[in-house]
Amino acid sequence: MKIKLIILLIGFSFFGYSQKKSIKKAITIKPKTEFVSELLSKMTLEEKIGQLNLPTSGDITTGAANSSNVAKNIEEGKVGGLFNIKSVQKIREVQKIAVEKSRLKIPLLFGMDVIHGYETTFPIPLGLSCTWDLKLIERSAQIAAQEASADGINWTFSPMVDISRDPRWGRVSEGSGEDPFLGSQIAKAMVHGYQGDDLSKNNTILSCVKHFALYGAPEAGRDYNTVDMSRIKMYNDYFPPYKAAVDAGVGSVMASFNEIDGIPATGNKWLMTDVLKKQWGFKGFVVTDFTGIPEMIEHGMGDLQTVSALALNAGIEMDMVGEGFLTTLKKSVEEGKVTIEQIDNATRLILNAKYDLGLFHDPYRYTDAKRAKTEIFTASNRAEARKTASQSLVLLKNQNQLLPLKKAGTIALIGPLADAKENMAGTWSVATNMENSVSLLAGIKEVAGNSTKVLYAKGSNLDYDAAFEEKATMFGKTLHRDNRTTEELLAEALKIANQSDIIVAALGESAEMSGESSSRTNLEIPQAQKDLLQAVLKTGKPVVLVLFTGRPLVLVQESETVPAILNTWFAGSEAGSAIADVLFGDENPSGKLTATFPRSVGQVPIYYSQKNTGRPLANKEGKFEKFRSNYIDERNEPLYPFGFGLSYTTFDYSNLKISSNKMKFNEKVTVSVDVTNTGNYDGKEVVQLYIRDLVGSVTRPLKELKGFQKIAIKKGEKQTVSFEISVEELKFYNSDLQFIAEPGAFQIFVGTDSNAEKKVSLELIK
Ligand code: BGC
Repeated sequence: MKIKLIILLIGFSFFGYSQKKSIKKAITIKPKTEFVSELLSKMTLEEKIGQLNLPTSGDITTGAANSSNVAKNIEEGKVGGLFNIKSVQKIREVQKIAVEKSRLKIPLLFGMDVIHGYETTFPIPLGLSCTWDLKLIERSAQIAAQEASADGINWTFSPMVDISRDPRWGRVSEGSGEDPFLGSQIAKAMVHGYQGDDLSKNNTILSCVKHFALYGAPEAGRDYNTVDMSRIKMYNDYFPPYKAAVDAGVGSVMASFNEIDGIPATGNKWLMTDVLKKQWGFKGFVVTDFTGIPEMIEHGMGDLQTVSALALNAGIEMDMVGEGFLTTLKKSVEEGKVTIEQIDNATRLILNAKYDLGLFHDPYRYTDAKRAKTEIFTASNRAEARKTASQSLVLLKNQNQLLPLKKAGTIALIGPLADAKENMAGTWSVATNMENSVSLLAGIKEVAGNSTKVLYAKGSNLDYDAAFEEKATMFGKTLHRDNRTTEELLAEALKIANQSDIIVAALGESAEMSGESSSRTNLEIPQAQKDLLQAVLKTGKPVVLVLFTGRPLVLVQESETVPAILNTWFAGSEAGSAIADVLFGDENPSGKLTATFPRSVGQVPIYYSQKNTGRPLANKEGKFEKFRSNYIDERNEPLYPFGFGLSYTTFDYSNLKISSNKMKFNEKVTVSVDVTNTGNYDGKEVVQLYIRDLVGSVTRPLKELKGFQKIAIKKGEKQTVSFEISVEELKFYNSDLQFIAEPGAFQIFVGTDSNAEKKVSLELIK
């Protein structure tokens, strides 16, 4: 007894916390390895297993923290972290339970899905990726980290870097599109934005790259469905962004829900240990996705004890919500199914992360109530979000330069997304106060000013089907379904249309039509809105379609009938202002698509970096050719290709050059091109470089993005843009999964989108 008491007291002073002292200042403690080893040596098996347990905040969010079940578990040392509690006060209160009432006083991690901003909400990640601006993207993560950390959060489940080429899958909205090169650059920028250079600062937070791996390629585009993919495709097309995040020093990785090679990712030792830890050298910890461990029972991998041991043996360290580790690991140790060393190793990695965050120096590091009052949803953060949002919009069509609009005359703003502030932030925006988002109606009124008259009518509901609208407007993201008849809604819209000079139609998806568990088989704008659009077009007034969507849509009818289309995704809390900035020309659109827009859902999966096949089409006009790789009822090409996006100005590419047509393995060449702004506005252009490897030991894509630069060019001016090419840009994984370049001929394309045709040749020689 006495000995135990002494150890306990040593423990107290060792960590430097006591109930009375209540931690005002950071303290000096031993170096990480020593500190964590000493702590581990004091822990019981139950306490170690407790560190591997990540419950959701559960009753703590609704009840008094001290009386909840989670609180009891924290006191008993059975919790390593909690997620999705919002508010610095609540988090401080819960942290207090851990550091004052549990035996070893180990502080908790506090996680949250801070996916595209905190209260200041940035565009959904798919939209953010369309900025092609790595500095802006990194800055968005930095602001998110600053706000989240000011509210008590020290760990975010972001970035989501799942490559997806299937817009039926609702979670395309949460990633950076279809391309591994761009996706990797963005992954790095996000990790750096969240974690900064020093994780222990109180305004940086631990990042968690997800969902490892291949979650974006479910069969039939149905969320959580089976994934089956060749390893060569994994390594070349789907793994790079996860690896880029690891190379950037991401502190944690989240396992995906899907299976890989017949074994769920959560129990897949090849994936978690051989690839992630051994090949890539990942040193942080791996957390499951929500109930990932018990879901392996449904996958058919055995009972809870079996699947929990499977996960630990695979290389998982933390169990999100499943409680499989908490309830079965001790028994598995006793039965020899897992070892104490494995549990020690897993615990060590969680404790390391807490140490890196500075939580052992000061468990209240992220719970400064003053910061919460002054650093969240600030005017300057909102101004940055507005600017970033304006850069994420993609102008898909602008016949006869209908846009930008004049700040004069009368505008009819029509559509169910026009006055819909609850939907502006988009999916996965748990920290947003939806009430504070700027609707398009409010944004247009603000930016157009008093010289413009703005009339508004809803025109239609999201869809004719009320039950569908209910599924599409969950989590408070209401569109305030209107009980008037279709005819009444339309009559009101036509009335204001006829009184106006121009119609702005705000149509598309609601925020919750994309995101988790929001797969679709039909990729069109819902029928009620398509009908509304065709009806307002019949007035003969010019129509601008302001499109809201979380995924590439099929827009064939709209592209043929509407003179101007501005795709705005879900642009965040400042969406309405940012869209108005672009509509009225205060900002010139510069976003470029990062996911292909198909002509038909039947073309899916569709992406620019396809292979040639043995039977490619011979004609470029898309005419049907029997016994060639094409459809009898649709062209092969998409409606809008990867990299596409218009500006109010125009850019001309000329003088494409390469410094040498031959390059040795240790040499570099420079490719340069002149880009001239030939239109009437200053503008930004994303200059894109693609490479084709003409002959390989394995078949190679027709084009792969290997470089891009976003540049600002004043009207009438010209800039020379240069790219350096080394052997790195020519490498790929061969059939032995070695990352190599092979000597031979390459073509290098530079242009405004993935259809770029101007090219130079290069030969890689020994
Ligand atoms: C999602 C994750 C998310 C987790 C925690 C899961 O359903 O797949 O992306 O981080 O919930 O909220």
